[in-house]
Amino acid sequence: MKTVTGFSKMSKTEKINWLAGQFEGKTAQEITEMTRFWNPNDKIQARFDEFAENTLTNYYLPFGVAPNFLINGKTYCVPMVIEESSVVAAASLSAKFWSERGGFKARVLSTKKVGQVHFMWRGDKSRLVKFFNDARPALLESVASLAYNMQKRGGGILGMELVDRTSELADYWQLKMEFETCDAMGANFINSILEEMARQFQAKLELSNLPSEERVAEVIMCILSNFTPDCAVEVSVECPIEDLGVFAGGMDAQTFARRFYTGVEIARVDRSRAVTHNKGIMNGIDSVILATGNDFRAIEACAHAWAANDGQYRSLSTCTLERERFKFSLTLPMALGTVGGLTNLHPLANISLDILGRPSAPELMQVAAAVGLAQNFGAVRSLVTTGIQKGHMKLHLLNILQQLGATEAQKQSAQVYFADKVVSYSAVRSLVESNPSL
Ligand code: MEV
Repeated sequence: MKTVTGFSKMSKTEKINWLAGQFEGKTAQEITEMTRFWNPNDKIQARFDEFAENTLTNYYLPFGVAPNFLINGKTYCVPMVIEESSVVAAASLSAKFWSERGGFKARVLSTKKVGQVHFMWRGDKSRLVKFFNDARPALLESVASLAYNMQKRGGGILGMELVDRTSELADYWQLKMEFETCDAMGANFINSILEEMARQFQAKLELSNLPSEERVAEVIMCILSNFTPDCAVEVSVECPIEDLGVFAGGMDAQTFARRFYTGVEIARVDRSRAVTHNKGIMNGIDSVILATGNDFRAIEACAHAWAANDGQYRSLSTCTLERERFKFSLTLPMALGTVGGLTNLHPLANISLDILGRPSAPELMQVAAAVGLAQNFGAVRSLVTTGIQKGHMKLHLLNILQQLGATEAQKQSAQVYFADKVVSYSAVRSLVESNPSL
């Protein structure tokens, strides 16, 4: 493909035409036709265009809901945005199952966030420590105006410490700051304060009475940390083992509980299984994060770092079978927002928050964690009973039929035919081709 200059200055139509011009035939035609996915409402489209740069069109994902989520005694219908078939169905099934057994109990453990000024400094450590301790009140005061509005809402800067990392990397130090950002995810708030703090720190150090070579700190970067172990939520479900009921194929509650427990333990000790197990949890969490306009990359990065917190990557969820009770729980850090950013700008994120009853950020953390646990319960339940393909394939069948352009009658007959057979693309195609009259 040719390089292009001034691309970002082109209009949207010019960009599409330029891109289409790089291809021939069907691809060029398809690119030109991307305009089909523009929103007919110019105002709404303009809003989407502004979310990112070089926007050509919109990329659709299904927006669904999982009803019957009973969390801390309140029933939610949870919006979920996800392209993978069976995720919403599995969440809904698990939600219904647990709504009949007391529901999900969730609690936020803490909501502290962290940001760091990473800098290089060389000299007598004790002098830097003394300088920092003396300067800390004035440094915090110097950025106080930036935290004023957040403070009025009950948040702000919680503290700041100097961290010596020189044993791991020569001359490497941090100013580690802690924040409470209330219902905002708070990235802009935190990063603005960190950058100002870095300027103030360098200025004060320069004017200090330290030896001249120690008055220089080279700031490498200022950025919030997406690892938020102190912004965490815990969610669990539990009931007497006997109340779990009977499972597919007549599996009794005791057998199910033992197999489920073992399935979760396998994910605790085996990294390869743990990644897939946690992926199932993130199927649920990400879909809520996306629906509410939060940053799923941050949530993913944090969750996986947390899963490896003791040095080995492990299952995020835990199962216990004690005193004849089945308990399944999940604790993970998750920094979410329900005000600011995309949560308000994206029309569907805004509707999602309405559907959830305009939750606070901590309430949304509880909902997202409950959906993650529900998803995990649904996946492990299938795995240790019928196997995962049975449920998956039902929805997969519909996708294949859709791709093949099957008629409604062909779809119905295929669903009956495949009720007790293995679904594969070629088997579905043969069936559709052998029933052209339907
Ligand atoms: C598929 O998206 C997720 C599962 O693989 C999760 C799991 O194996 O626990 C079904």
